[in-house]
Amino acid sequence: MDAKTYIIKTFGCQMNEHDTQKIGGVLGGLGFEPARFEEEADFILFNTCTVREKAHQKAFSAIGRTVAKKRPISLIAVCGCMAQEEGAKLLSRFPEIDIIFGPDQIYRLPELLKTRNETGRPAIATELINSQEDYHFLDSVPAMRFHGPTAYVTIMKGCNSHCSYCIVPKVRGTEVYRPWRDIVREVQYLVEKGCREVTLLGQNVNSYGTGAEDGVRFGKLIRLISDNTDVERIRFTSPHPKDVDCDLIEEYATNPKLCSHIHLPLQSGSDMVLRRMRRAYNRKTYRAKIEKLRKVRPSIAISTDMIVGFCGETEAEFQSTLDFLQEIRFDYIYAFKYSPRPDTEAHQFPDDVPPGVKEKRLSELFTLQAKISHEINQSYVGRTEAVLVEGEDKLGKGRSQGRTETNKIANFSGNDVPIGVIVNVEIKKANANSLEGILCQKSR
Ligand code: 5AD
Ligand code: SF4
Repeated sequence: MDAKTYIIKTFGCQMNEHDTQKIGGVLGGLGFEPARFEEEADFILFNTCTVREKAHQKAFSAIGRTVAKKRPISLIAVCGCMAQEEGAKLLSRFPEIDIIFGPDQIYRLPELLKTRNETGRPAIATELINSQEDYHFLDSVPAMRFHGPTAYVTIMKGCNSHCSYCIVPKVRGTEVYRPWRDIVREVQYLVEKGCREVTLLGQNVNSYGTGAEDGVRFGKLIRLISDNTDVERIRFTSPHPKDVDCDLIEEYATNPKLCSHIHLPLQSGSDMVLRRMRRAYNRKTYRAKIEKLRKVRPSIAISTDMIVGFCGETEAEFQSTLDFLQEIRFDYIYAFKYSPRPDTEAHQFPDDVPPGVKEKRLSELFTLQAKISHEINQSYVGRTEAVLVEGEDKLGKGRSQGRTETNKIANFSGNDVPIGVIVNVEIKKANANSLEGILCQKSR
């Protein structure tokens, strides 16, 4: 069968977004071109997520809608974390699926397409690859990547933590670290294509290099990227609080390329809940790390992930979370209602916080955070911030949009500034989720 154009529907986190870029690269190598609309595509791929039940269902519904259209669609593939979790079972619900592959099997897509076309039967690949020797990081498929001022760079895969609520270790396997020379090479390649900022990606980035013979752990990796490439800004996501070590703090103290932001998932502000979640830190140790970060980089913005309504969460435990939020004062948060996931440790605990209570706690958390975020953003008014221009203001007001080093969206007057330039913007106004200002100097 001659499939020529493709479309990828992506769900979930940055890891999935980046996997979508890699899949695009693999397909580009096979002569496929991106389609603008699903209706035009010969090959439709669903890159799915399963972190919460809702994400899992969302992917199911999307596949269902496509299948129900009953057009002469050439091929349908389901990949990503939900595909990893469901595997061949997906076929009993959607026999129309042609290819199913997990996150570790992207490199085999050409072979899977060939098998599907030759046999006319579904091709399935959901093995996890957990060894350094056998894992394929797909570092050399840059052909189809969007060349903009910012880019993701994978540094590791999998997760060795045992958070009791989390399905990720099951669907993404154990940690494998990408060799640092390959990472440095890719960053420099991206810079030569016009990139000025990279975001290092992994499920638990700061456990990078644990046990590695060459001694290159996460802090050292950041240093190597800074010293051996011309990239100007380095970000990363997501780190685990337990692995914020002296080397990383030292980078924040001394490395101007490392942006003044850290997204450090907290999940709960109650020590009892944190213990049930097996997060391997408590309020005291989390607070100590934040204090160190703020000491060496006073301007640092801190964001986090929170879960409300975890198994057995009492009103008092939830109150501890609110108190801790007030104490730490995060710049922004992502917060979710706890969702039991199959084969996780917490799946055996009673999911005993009623849905209405989870809802109420989530909205209380957001209300408190909105106030804090607005206050922090307000403190930017009058300051001048270095902004990397990423495009036009999404509201289309003829303004430009970019990000401050602290990862805040800044919109500013004048859209004649080229994308990819770092400009100084004087902040005039603060919104809950963005800043507004005026250009004060064209380029730096
Ligand atoms: N229920 C709700 N939220 C979850 N997360 C991970 N697993 C679950 C779950 N079972 C959240 C965590 C994590 C983010 C990516 O998703 O906050 O940091
Ligand atoms: Fe979803 Fe987690 Fe997979 Fe990302 S790693 S796509 S959040 S399940």
